[in-house]
Amino acid sequence: MKKVARTWKINNQEKSAEFPPARRLLDVLREDLNLKGTKEGCGEGECDACTVLVNGQPVISCLIAAGQVPDGAEMMTVEGLEQTENERILQDAYIQKGAAQCGFCIPGMIVSSYAFLSTNQNPDERAIREAHAGNLCRCTGYAKIVEAIQCAAEKWSAAEV
Ligand code: FES
Ligand code: FES
Repeated sequence: MKKVARTWKINNQEKSAEFPPARRLLDVLREDLNLKGTKEGCGEGECDACTVLVNGQPVISCLIAAGQVPDGAEMMTVEGLEQTENERILQDAYIQKGAAQCGFCIPGMIVSSYAFLSTNQNPDERAIREAHAGNLCRCTGYAKIVEAIQCAAEKWSAAEV
């Protein structure tokens, strides 16, 4: 099968891969580039466990063909966010508020929270719920997730990025 080549900046590092254009971005990230922090839940666009940032926007990586992501695109996966102070703030807030249990949804949840708080540091509950509406968590009550994000928001603006 015909392959396409792409070079992307992922987590501030250039990475190249060749793949059939219809291969899912999730599979290229996890299997070809060994970035296994991004999780597969449903594989059908219904849980957001596989969320990554493409040019700063959250993208459901199981729904997008890797060939649709242009050469030179900038991506952030949860591994890249882990190098930032704001991700640590989010992670601490999730733990402190009891918003993480089995942890399966957490990589996608953290990526969504990071994208959301990057543009809104003073969110109300409704905005938080809307921004995370696609992120399914089977363990934790969403009230705790909302509390965690509000807690992170209070520290966010003072943090280094
Ligand atoms: S694995 Fe992508 S949305 Fe569920
Ligand atoms: S903490 Fe288990 S699915 Fe969210």
